[in-house]
Amino acid sequence: MYLVIGATAHFGRQAVEELAAAGVPVRALTRTPEKAAFPAGVDVVQGDLTRPETLPAVMANVEAAFLVLQYGMDVAPLLSAARAAGVRRLVFLSSGAVVPDADQQPDVIARYHRDVERAIEASGVEWTFLRLLFPAINSLTFAMQLGGGDVIRAPYTEAAFSAVHERDVAEVAARILTGGGHSGQVYDLTGPGSLT
Ligand SMILES: NC(=O)c1ccc[n+]([C@@H]2O[C@H](COP(=O)([O-])OP(=O)(O)OC[C@H]3O[C@@H](n4cnc5c(N)ncnc54)[C@H](OP(=O)(O)O)[C@@H]3O)[C@@H](O)[C@H]2O)c1
Repeated sequence: MYLVIGATAHFGRQAVEELAAAGVPVRALTRTPEKAAFPAGVDVVQGDLTRPETLPAVMANVEAAFLVLQYGMDVAPLLSAARAAGVRRLVFLSSGAVVPDADQQPDVIARYHRDVERAIEASGVEWTFLRLLFPAINSLTFAMQLGGGDVIRAPYTEAAFSAVHERDVAEVAARILTGGGHSGQVYDLTGPGSLT
């Protein structure tokens, strides 16, 4: 069984669909299954990361889990439930803002993700980190401006970024979840080209 956490939002939902299309057993965690609307065959399980008593049922028979965590979520209950259930691999969607080996991270987003990475490293479960800086969906923040014309006003206009489609993030996660073989690896996810 492959578990997706954060299954009803951007990255997790696409990972669930990817795994379901591949024909492997997939479980989606949500606090509100009645609203989840997943493809047939997906094992939709009700649970809450802030309520540890709900997590043993979520983790039962799970081989590998994809962790997409809402910013600030405490990862400790999830990790102890995963360890207790014998989960073998964790794939964590981390942030490209993390500065490797820095004593101090540059901002709160980087610090949160590095703290989660450290907790996962210490958990004893095999892990892979996907560090993503700019998902393509973030470009939708420009949509309102484009609705009013063809000019985008933004700071740092010369700054370049390499956008990655959420579906590609999901594909990478699904491949590592099901194939294994990427234990202890950190991957910086980048798109096909650098854009200003
Ligand atoms: N956007 C970026 O620029 C960017 C870049 C790099 C990495 N990321 C990573 O992506 C994350 C955001 O992902 P996202 O936008 O797909 O999700 P999101 O909107 O941040 O989080 C919503 C998801 O979290 C679940 N959730 C929230 N509280 C929960 C709880 N107490 N127990 C169980 N599940 C809970 C929700 O499930 P239900 O409501 O169904 O229960 C929903 O699936 C960031 O925090 C970061 O780690 C984002």
